[in-house]
Amino acid sequence: MENIKENAKTIIDNINNYNSEVSEIINYYKTAPADKLYQRAASVCENIHGKNIILRGLIEFTNYCTQDCLYCGIRKSNSKAIRYRMDHDEIIKTVEAGYNAGLRTFVLQGGEDSFYTSEKICRILEQIKKVTEYSSSVTLSIGIKSRKDYKNFKDAGADRYLLRFETSNQNLYKKIKINNSLERRITAILDLKELGYETGSGYMTGLPGETEEVRINNALLCRKLDLDMVGVGPFIPSSNTPLGASPQMPLEHAIKATALLRLLLPKAHIPATTAAGSLDNRGREKMVQAGANVLMPNITPVEVKKHYLLYPGKVCLEENGNYIINDLALRMSSIDRNITFSKGTALRFLS
Ligand code: 5AD
Repeated sequence: MENIKENAKTIIDNINNYNSEVSEIINYYKTAPADKLYQRAASVCENIHGKNIILRGLIEFTNYCTQDCLYCGIRKSNSKAIRYRMDHDEIIKTVEAGYNAGLRTFVLQGGEDSFYTSEKICRILEQIKKVTEYSSSVTLSIGIKSRKDYKNFKDAGADRYLLRFETSNQNLYKKIKINNSLERRITAILDLKELGYETGSGYMTGLPGETEEVRINNALLCRKLDLDMVGVGPFIPSSNTPLGASPQMPLEHAIKATALLRLLLPKAHIPATTAAGSLDNRGREKMVQAGANVLMPNITPVEVKKHYLLYPGKVCLEENGNYIINDLALRMSSIDRNITFSKGTALRFLS
């Protein structure tokens, strides 16, 4: 355990130590015109993943949160947030509807909500596996937990875990996350990797105080962590949060980040994120054209999804899962891609 903590520290301290291959990529990122960068990333993506865009059904099952991250609309101190929690049966029903629509990967995402004990999460995982005839993959995205909890979730059927580090800059991290350190978060990511999860992380672009150097380091940290999945989205200032009055930085930072990540981690599964689609109606298409190969239709029941407001202007709040899947299929065909219901297992887990 001490060892993992040491490893986390070493990784953070060595973000800027890299080989000549990485050096060439960073140089290209810094100097190439954006359209060339996107084209190169899209072609690397197509060579490995083809033209298929993998769907993951996202279920936002609770917006209660014990954390107080400065950027987030469901932070603990936001008394304006209307809180909800889906119960066990509602979660299972939502998975079943998604399964019937063809989805084979489900992402359970929530605030850090102590109502969902490790036992409750394990029962949900077991039931999801059962109702999907043991032919789906389940991803958890419920924050930092103890290694023991991560182990229990894995044993109960969790295949994957998403835990964004949000920023690779330790000072910035401390300011926006308050309750824990970047080192603690990286330790959790290393725990997940060691336990055999397909492991995802990622970050936001355009946080106040972020520089181009930080953006490059964010991508380099993803490479150091050798992630299976990486999600990036633009930070969108959210009212009733301490960062609510921050300027909106351009989406291009997030699109460029997508391309850089594709070059640094060719095999990774990289989503075109909802935040990108919320800032710009064609934001997700732009991410796919810069190397993304995953979409995450939000299949949370319409009665509650409008309250999972991490940021304003979120897309797909009125639509149900089937409608969204159709919409995504059309959007992808407009840019010469096809959606696929394949499980989209990380390539290293397939051999
Ligand atoms: N703008 C954009 N993305 C946000 N997230 C949280 N708050 C915001 C915001 N205001 C992202 C974080 C988190 C993910 C679930 O949503 O990166 O990890």
